[in-house]
Amino acid sequence: GAPVEADVGKLQPGEMMTVEWRGKPVWILRRTPEMLAGLAGHEDRLADPGSADSLQPDYTVSRHRSINDEYLVVIGICTHLGCSPSEKLQPGKASGLGEDWPGGFLCPCHGSIFDLAGRVFRHQPAPTNLEIPPHKWLSATKLLIG
Ligand code: FES
Repeated sequence: GAPVEADVGKLQPGEMMTVEWRGKPVWILRRTPEMLAGLAGHEDRLADPGSADSLQPDYTVSRHRSINDEYLVVIGICTHLGCSPSEKLQPGKASGLGEDWPGGFLCPCHGSIFDLAGRVFRHQPAPTNLEIPPHKWLSATKLLIG
């Protein structure tokens, strides 16, 4: 499949958009400073915190799993059996996922949960973090996926 261009210029902090690449939904989440700060402190609850066993390009291997920390670019397909996780971006109790929920995604099929870098929590059906597609920035707001 051909690479796909995405313009993130209208995306506000905390907002997410979806573009299709190779028939798959690619999520682009513009993370707020609070969201980025919330990626620290729960590594011991993750199955693969450093993404050693997860699919992602080398240039995104970090806690933030991104080139530009502000933007998470990830394939929105659960690594268990391929369902589409739903957004649970807000931290805390209101998510229904408990006081210590740092914000992230919940797969409705068998309950796997992922943080705001797409990293899966331990003891979930999904074995690895959400996949990160190859991508690069063409400008401050234009992204090329694929
Ligand atoms: Fe997501 Fe099973 S498909 S938890």
